[in-house]
Amino acid sequence: MADVTPLTIRDFQVFKGFLSPQAQADMVEDIRQIAAVAPFVAPVTPRGQPMSVRMTSAGSVGWVTDRAGYRYQAHHPGGQAWPDIPASVLSVWAAVSGVDRAPDCCLINYYGESARMGMHQDKDEASFDWPVVSISLGDDALFRMGNRSRGGRTESLWLTSGDVVVMSGAARLCYHGVDRIRYQSARLLPKGGRINLTLRVVT
Ligand code: SIN
Ligand code: FE2
Repeated sequence: MADVTPLTIRDFQVFKGFLSPQAQADMVEDIRQIAAVAPFVAPVTPRGQPMSVRMTSAGSVGWVTDRAGYRYQAHHPGGQAWPDIPASVLSVWAAVSGVDRAPDCCLINYYGESARMGMHQDKDEASFDWPVVSISLGDDALFRMGNRSRGGRTESLWLTSGDVVVMSGAARLCYHGVDRIRYQSARLLPKGGRINLTLRVVT
């Protein structure tokens, strides 16, 4: 794991190339084991709109969305408990979060060829005093960073495999999203696509 100094872009801290290729491959293997217990699901928004990403979680709670709303819950939609957050992922949090408590949730989003993530704030947590840490694996993604209210000027950056972004302080409630990925730009995932892990303190 490289100890790189982050770029700061609009209060977002971006650790470019934080994970070595081997660390990325090991993390993908950990994610495969999570998905064997807690399979990726195709979520819908509370309004019933299908999301383009596929989603699962690890941790004491997972983030889910369906017609009943956005929320954290202790079980996969299939009823089973979420797997534990792997040590490989916890060690990234420990290295970059700047806090000494562990995250409750590791949300795992898979972006296929035409997946995207609309501009949103992460605000389903009980407190916004804790950072959000995001890990990128696989294909490049065009990450857009905005403001604490919707609209206004934004800045975009290509995130590549192994990059880590920290949203804390003034960035914690900033709008952000993924406009698109560059499908099959990386070799990490055999079928292409991108995995984003988002680590959060929830309770
Ligand atoms: C998110 O904020 O939900 C995803 C960010 C990313 O995929 O990089
Ligand atoms: Fe987010």
